Amino acid sequence: MTTVVTSPALDAQAERSTALRVALLGCGTVGSEVARLLIGQAHDLQARVGRPLELVGIAVRRAGRDRAGIDPALFTTDAPALVTRDDVDLVIEVIGGIEPARSLILAALRHGKSVVTANKALLAEDGGTLFAAAEQAGVDLYFEAAVAGAIPIIRPLRESLVGDEITSVIGIVNGTTNFILDKMDSEGAGFAETLAEAQELGYAEADPTADVEAFDAAAKAAILASLAFHTRVTAGDVYREGITEVSTTDIASAREMGSVVKLLAICQLSSGDDGREQSVSVRVHPAMIPRSHPLAGVGGAYNAVFVESRSAGRLMFYGPGAGGGPTASAVLGDLVTVARNRVRGASGPGESTYAARPISPIGSVITRYHLSLEVADVAGVLAQIAQCFAEHGVSIQTVRQQGRAADAQLVIVTHRASDADLSATVDDLRDLDAVRAVTSVMRVEGE
Ligand code: NDP
Ligand code: HSE
Repeated sequence: MTTVVTSPALDAQAERSTALRVALLGCGTVGSEVARLLIGQAHDLQARVGRPLELVGIAVRRAGRDRAGIDPALFTTDAPALVTRDDVDLVIEVIGGIEPARSLILAALRHGKSVVTANKALLAEDGGTLFAAAEQAGVDLYFEAAVAGAIPIIRPLRESLVGDEITSVIGIVNGTTNFILDKMDSEGAGFAETLAEAQELGYAEADPTADVEAFDAAAKAAILASLAFHTRVTAGDVYREGITEVSTTDIASAREMGSVVKLLAICQLSSGDDGREQSVSVRVHPAMIPRSHPLAGVGGAYNAVFVESRSAGRLMFYGPGAGGGPTASAVLGDLVTVARNRVRGASGPGESTYAARPISPIGSVITRYHLSLEVADVAGVLAQIAQCFAEHGVSIQTVRQQGRAADAQLVIVTHRASDADLSATVDDLRDLDAVRAVTSVMRVEGE
């Protein structure tokens, strides 16, 4: 006869040695770094979680590729089967895009697995569905890597500052475009060659249009605004302009003004006329900021986010905003957190969108503007142009004129005006015979 002896101490020991099993979806720029860190730092991660973390499978599009340092036996092209495996506890999604990422994350959550994702495009498009699925299943959905690479900004908004009232979040949240604008400014580099370099360094999205047309920054702005203002903001709510229209002339003109061009994400909470209903405006566009502004010194693929809140005042978060290593750091941080939660039988905070605030249209946004115009160099032109501005109540701060044969280039900087009034002014300027072209309109921020 065999007697099985159990004791609480032995049970606890067995429990501590049971690995939490991790499935990785995607093994590109970010995923390959995540896999290497998971394997290479297994001992330390186990000590931090209290249980081993075991990478049990990696879903990719092309299984046969050589992926240095990672066991080929881990790879599969059957992602749906991997995320629903009974022995998988935690899922990391670093495929990107909307589908199949959404279906895979939903399947994982519905099968009781906590999920870590870096997928800002998906969170900004359909985060509500994912958060609801996580809540229903009582599991975690963490996404620190989705905004500003390695910078801890999601957790501070979701947890540390959740007792405060945040009034604005302003930042540089796309590494690729900051890398391009910085090189155009500091080295006179061309747009196309600098974008190619950013792609090689692993900063750019699979389709770099997402970076240069600011879809990526808009998705991040939507996520930041949702967290900061406790309301659901989707990518479609964000006013967006990319950097493809930023010319070397704009950059030189900014330089002459003691400014620099940056792609900014600006999320603001504002009170309505009655002082009670608070609305939210979220916009992403290139802007000129003074070189003395702290964001002006953010170079390369670095990101920075300013948060302003009622009680804490001003906080700034700064660090590497893109690339495999920095992003993997944020993913691993989330993985340790969701693993610890699982060990304790707990889950972290869910979505907080109780406020349902209206979104302000871009026309109501008030800021300053820099305009470049090609005009006929004849008597009375300045008066006609000034009249156009005056008719829409837009006040001119400075005018600079440079002769160019029979034409002249005018650079006008306005005082603060609404976007609607400025747009109406530009429409009328385009109708003036003396105005050959309005070559550039850019917002001026940070003064
Ligand atoms: P990559 O394009 O480098 O990698 C994507 C990975 O997903 C590849 O391994 C690819 O497989 C795999 N994949 C693609 N389609 C499928 C599919 N249908 N089924 C299974 N696997 C698939 O992207 P990144 O690593 O750069 O980005 C991943 C995510 O991280 C994105 O959401 C991105 O926005 C986000 N992110 C990226 C940052 C960066 O700096 N790169 C920074 C912050 C977030 P295969 O290798 O076979 O092609
Ligand atoms: N393509 C993104 C960027 C990656 O350049 O910022 C980081 O989210």
